[in-house]
Amino acid sequence: MTETLSSGSPDQIRKEMLSLVKSVKGQVLNAENLYVAVDWRKPEVKRKNHQAADVNPAGQLDALAQEVLSCERCSLSGQRKNVVFGDGNPSARIVFVGEAPGADEDEQGLPFVGRAGQLLTDIIVKGMKLARKDVYICNILKCRPPGNRNPLPEEIGKCEPFLKKQLQLIRPGVICALGKFAAQTLLKTETPITALRGRFYDYEGIKLMPTYHPAYLLRNPHAKKQVWEDVQMIMKEIDPGRAS
Ligand code: URA
Repeated sequence: MTETLSSGSPDQIRKEMLSLVKSVKGQVLNAENLYVAVDWRKPEVKRKNHQAADVNPAGQLDALAQEVLSCERCSLSGQRKNVVFGDGNPSARIVFVGEAPGADEDEQGLPFVGRAGQLLTDIIVKGMKLARKDVYICNILKCRPPGNRNPLPEEIGKCEPFLKKQLQLIRPGVICALGKFAAQTLLKTETPITALRGRFYDYEGIKLMPTYHPAYLLRNPHAKKQVWEDVQMIMKEIDPGRAS
């Protein structure tokens, strides 16, 4: 912001001063609205300190969840039954990020508990041979869009800082972005999911694998083969000795 005062009358200068103060106040309020504490330490340092006594990801995640539970940053807050913050192991090696809660998730306050959730659970339990409680599952949006419509850019913009903080606290080995909205939001791209999936990208020092959303698989079961390929790459990354 660069503004200069004119050399006009005292009244004119007073008006300009007032408008300047208003503009600065507006910018400070905007910054406060967007504020989420960020940990800028280098990934290696954070990884080393992950289990150290002064770092308590579970506690910090709980504190973040409390903040999100009372969020009113966008109009979805007025229509939700429950905030769906996320669920699972705060020290998980794999985090799945979906799009937004649906009706079942809104009802229960938990991510991926409907039909698509059952399929995701099968992928985790039957495919990856892990328990759901071993991984962490969350969404781009923490509140349900009405009628399960697509998330709007302004809703994503308001909610994304929470996800960013969530991922920073968990710092998994791999993030699996489920579907177009998760992949495009995290990677800041408009490339279609068909072209994105199947290889790792970098998300703030964390490996990110985009793959198809389980709801897409319910409609297109033939795509399960590709998801299985993506999941195997994730398993190899997490546990090189185990994946077949
Ligand atoms: N679809 C999502 O993207 N997230 C959920 O939590 C449920 C369905």
